[in-house]
Amino acid sequence: MSSSIVYLLSLAFLLQTAFGADSLFHICSNSGNFSAYNDSYEANLNVLTGYLSIQAPPSGFGLGSIGQNPNQAYGLALCRGDVSTPDCKTCVVEAGSEIRKRCPYDKGAIIWYDNCLFKYSSMEFFGHVDNQNKLYMWNLNNVSEPQSFNAKTKELLSELATQAYSNPKMYAAGEMELYGSKKLYGLTQCTRDLSSTECKKCLDDIIGELPSCCDGKGGGRIVGGSCNFRYEIYPFANA
Ligand SMILES: *[C@@H]1O[C@H](CO)[C@@H](O)[C@H](O)[C@H]1NC(C)=O
Ligand SMILES: *[C@@H]1O[C@H](CO)[C@@H](O)[C@H](O)[C@H]1NC(C)=O
Ligand SMILES: *[C@@H]1O[C@H](CO)[C@@H](O)[C@H](O)[C@H]1NC(C)=O
Repeated sequence: MSSSIVYLLSLAFLLQTAFGADSLFHICSNSGNFSAYNDSYEANLNVLTGYLSIQAPPSGFGLGSIGQNPNQAYGLALCRGDVSTPDCKTCVVEAGSEIRKRCPYDKGAIIWYDNCLFKYSSMEFFGHVDNQNKLYMWNLNNVSEPQSFNAKTKELLSELATQAYSNPKMYAAGEMELYGSKKLYGLTQCTRDLSSTECKKCLDDIIGELPSCCDGKGGGRIVGGSCNFRYEIYPFANA
């Protein structure tokens, strides 16, 4: 197992209300230290960060590379599919500044927020599923009927995965009836550098990890560098 999966216990509800603007998590890649490597990498990273904060907000996704080998910096920014242009901009600007404080000399890093993802590397990664960076989060509350709930969760997320990889925005959100009057809400999303086939593979893989992540839990997320899902028993995305 080469992937560095990070497990986070969280009350998703608390995170949303009390710490809405804080990052969920970040990972500094251990691939190298750029001040020892070449200062011009840092200059390229600064330009790239500014570029992504302008390029990403209008469509919710930005991708770019600045400089030339061996100092080329590659990066992307992705906002959740329902996030407005101004909120996307706020998130990407915050992410770009925060990740540099948390990983000041790393050539590669990734940071996740509720509203966006920001990632950069000295290695070209576009179009490849990121199996290195992954975060599990789940709600501490257990559901009363885990078997049927798990099946519903898988069904909803699989349906949303099919919608996401067939959609140019590579994003889908939806809901499903549970027992009684309760509902299950979910979303799936891929970074748009992936092909439809790779998006499907990325989402199928993380949905397959539901039993390790979120067995019987009333809410959960697997958030990776290339795709993510989230489900909750309360609405959390704008229609
Ligand atoms: C990484 O950069 C920092 C700051 O310049 C420096 O103190 C540290 O020694 C560097 N690490 C390596 C392995 O070169
Ligand atoms: C640092 O980057 C500059 C610009 O790309 C290049 O001219 C120079 O040779 C590099 N130096 C090292 C030590 O890699
Ligand atoms: C949920 O179930 C786990 C495993 O059975 C248990 O350890 C945990 O305390 C439960 N959580 C709550 C909030 O009841």
